[in-house]
Amino acid sequence: MNNEIFKSIDEYIALRVANEDTALQQTSTSISEANVADISISPVQGKMLQVFAAACSAKRILELGTFFAYSTIWLARALPSNGKLISIEIDEHQTALAQKNIENAQVNHLVELRTGMAIDILKEMINSDEPPFDLIFIDADKPPYLEYFKLAIKLSRPGTIIICDNVIRNGAVLDENATDEKVMGVQRLNNYLITCNDVVATILQTVGAKEYDGMVMAVVK
Ligand code: DHB
Ligand code: MG
Repeated sequence: MNNEIFKSIDEYIALRVANEDTALQQTSTSISEANVADISISPVQGKMLQVFAAACSAKRILELGTFFAYSTIWLARALPSNGKLISIEIDEHQTALAQKNIENAQVNHLVELRTGMAIDILKEMINSDEPPFDLIFIDADKPPYLEYFKLAIKLSRPGTIIICDNVIRNGAVLDENATDEKVMGVQRLNNYLITCNDVVATILQTVGAKEYDGMVMAVVK
């Protein structure tokens, strides 16, 4: 595949609709300084999340997988001043790094980070009658993606938009005999969509500055 054209066009699009400000650039710098692979979404994908937030007039957003809060910042900026974003991260050290980036981007009044296992936190939310979210972005560990998706539906209202990152995995989902747990996790979700009557859903292939992958786009019925 000619990745160069995808990269150049991603930059072309970003220059027109998805410019990063200093805070987002500093968030990317914090990732490279931590010497970890940058698995954050791209600027154009960040803008796409904002478009979806606008489409459902999002006031309440839920994110699974905060990482360095790069996507969190894009999403928080789509909220009105009385909006709320809850982002779940399994790792305490990671949450602290994310919190710094959120403060630097001056969206801390909109964002609540929760540290822990997403499955447990989602179940607690359901048991305590957490009001529904308008937009849910699933980008945490891949093996339980189907469980996350089913719990996300329970935290939704008709019209809630659910987006799941990394469901194509550079094409690895084509391998029906895949043994990689991440690939198997997203395959389970992708295969579930055909039987799921709770949502209208599709999968978008994502190409661009980062790897070849895909995102589930679902609207709750
Ligand atoms: C991985 C996770 C991500 O959320 C992503 O966008 C890319 C890769 C991973 O765990 O491999
Ligand atoms: Mg991801």
